[in-house]
Amino acid sequence: MNAAANQPALSQATLDFLAREHKLFINGAWIQSSGPETIDIINPSTEEVITKIQAGTRADIDKAVVAAQSALKGEWAALSSRQRGKVLLRFADLIDENLQTLAELEVLDNGQPLMIAQYTVAGFGADFVRYYAGWCDKIEGATIPVSPAEAPAGGSLTYTKREPIGVVGAIIPWNAPIAMAILKIAPSLAAGCTIILKPAELAPLTSMKLADIAKEAGVPDGVFNVVNGTGPEVGAALSEHMNIQKVSFTGSTGVGQTIAKAAAGSNLKKVTLELGGKSPVVVFPDANMEKVIPSICRAAFFLQGQNCMAGTRLLVHKDVADAVIEGVVAALAFWKVGDGFQPDTLIGPLISATQRDRVMSFIEAGKAEGARLVTGGNAVGEKGYFVEPTVFADCKPDMTIVQEEIFGPVLSVLTFDTYDLDEIAQLANDNVYGLSGSVWTQDISRAHKLVSMIDSGQVSINCHAAVDPAIPFGGNKMSGWGREFGKEGLEPFLKTKATTVVF
Ligand code: NAI
Ligand code: MG
Repeated sequence: MNAAANQPALSQATLDFLAREHKLFINGAWIQSSGPETIDIINPSTEEVITKIQAGTRADIDKAVVAAQSALKGEWAALSSRQRGKVLLRFADLIDENLQTLAELEVLDNGQPLMIAQYTVAGFGADFVRYYAGWCDKIEGATIPVSPAEAPAGGSLTYTKREPIGVVGAIIPWNAPIAMAILKIAPSLAAGCTIILKPAELAPLTSMKLADIAKEAGVPDGVFNVVNGTGPEVGAALSEHMNIQKVSFTGSTGVGQTIAKAAAGSNLKKVTLELGGKSPVVVFPDANMEKVIPSICRAAFFLQGQNCMAGTRLLVHKDVADAVIEGVVAALAFWKVGDGFQPDTLIGPLISATQRDRVMSFIEAGKAEGARLVTGGNAVGEKGYFVEPTVFADCKPDMTIVQEEIFGPVLSVLTFDTYDLDEIAQLANDNVYGLSGSVWTQDISRAHKLVSMIDSGQVSINCHAAVDPAIPFGGNKMSGWGREFGKEGLEPFLKTKATTVVF
């Protein structure tokens, strides 16, 4: 694997961005961090340091909060809802114009294949912002036909108004950086909030580029701030802050729990959490094999398996288990591992050496606990954090690789020998997570019945993890609190005021 050799020339805009000094974006300007620390930004395909960013501190979060609080009352609040929508539409257009630079930065920083980065910038960057731009002038309250004791019948009106919740702290992970950033920014701005974004220290570059783009689009100073830094310092400062009204977090379950405690122990700020997953893909013998095989591969190995909705528990009926496993192994021959800039790459590197080692330790646990390694199982390449797509068969429900979110390219296959939906649902639900899942069969009544029995925020039929800006997404059980995407994704950024008028 020769990562550097086939790398295409980067666009001038990308080179210019990388070459500059990376400060903190507070109140509409790039300002010096108040601390001395910098963070090396590493290309996970080459292990080379591509640039350095300044790490912010608690003092910088305080500065950003002051800016965001004051922006909440200024020019931003004075815009009509439709004007706010137009700012978001300009933001979306500029994301499209910067597509190549954003995609290149994403590949350099995160390692994902260029094609996926381009697709994400368009679909989960620009289009996602457009979707929320459309909500700006549709955020409505209600009129409520009651006459409270104080208000005589016929002589009163009760109405509700939806107001921006306030200053939002957004803490995001490194697995799909630009999508994660936009997922927080777009509904915050559509609701009229102001936001302080803390990117993941392992992949912050596209978040920073978005700050420039937002400014150019006319987002007023202080409305959107980016403060880099480490989780325990800057992330904790956000979740503990007394003047932040909401934290929106995507990341690991443990950190989600820490954030919920910090919110409870400070100002009871509202919290939404999008955490891990270990989603089941349930395959019956009548499933369309031509469709299910490639979909199993995408479900498990998209973004190297570093995605929360990954379908990493394949539950397959015994009658077709061998055929499905053989089909998946054959399909994986085309899943080339390599640098994201190589056009035939489908699996890039994992984000870091730590993540690679963590994934390898799960693979070792799979072998030690008696799962049958069907394909993959190795870290590869002299440079870069690459791991082969890996499939384990003959898995048992209590194995580590069946219970834990691996966040790497590892699929665990379990079989069932029944059509009893209670038994199958029990197997599907035998996990602390409940984020996504899918059921594959031509029998619609079986499909709908089983879907209703699986305890996940998203369970699809004959496809896995259909994501769209308009479809609510989020987890049950330990996969989190609340929903993102769609109209429901706007709700956590709003608060309701009820007013009764007596006349
Ligand atoms: P992480 O949860 O530590 O990082 C996510 C974000 O949280 C980063 O921006 C980080 O700086 C921040 N953070 C860390 N500690 C914090 C704290 N005390 N307070 C506030 N913010 C804090 O995830 P990490 O360590 O990078 O990955 C470890 C594992 O977590 C992965 O192997 C995977 O299993 C899981 N994970 C799941 C994700 C998901 O989308 N479901 C995303 C990222 C990681
Ligand atoms: Mg990186």
